[in-house]
Amino acid sequence: MNRREALKVVGVTAILAAVGAEAKMKEEHMNRLEMKPKNQAKMEKGELKHSPQVTIKDKDAKGYTLVEITVGQGGIVHPSTPDHWIDFISLTADGKLIGKSTLEPEISRGIASFAVKLDNVKTLTAKAGCNLHGIWSTTVSI
Ligand SMILES: [Fe+2]
Repeated sequence: MNRREALKVVGVTAILAAVGAEAKMKEEHMNRLEMKPKNQAKMEKGELKHSPQVTIKDKDAKGYTLVEITVGQGGIVHPSTPDHWIDFISLTADGKLIGKSTLEPEISRGIASFAVKLDNVKTLTAKAGCNLHGIWSTTVSI
């Protein structure tokens, strides 16, 4: 390897290290604590803003029911800014993972839908991750 090739390798290595460091820093700043409203029957504004709302919609001809998850309840919509956003939404049926959507700040906000075969399903649990305020969940019985 000549000097020029060696410099290219060093440059590429430095770029990869910088990209890796940025990704690690971003990951370290994600709040992954499991959060719960203090009083489920009377949620505060911040709790309403983070709790996923699960809406069961129509069943299609193949037997899949559309389940929509919106983050925020009572007309309160969670923001989506570069520093504060819903980064994922997941759905489980009776504890089994149905799907998980990852979301980017600004360009998307906390809404996801899944088409699910609900035959014999007893409970659906939606989880939503806010990068600042942790992971919030809502469970509904069917
Ligand atoms: Fe938040």
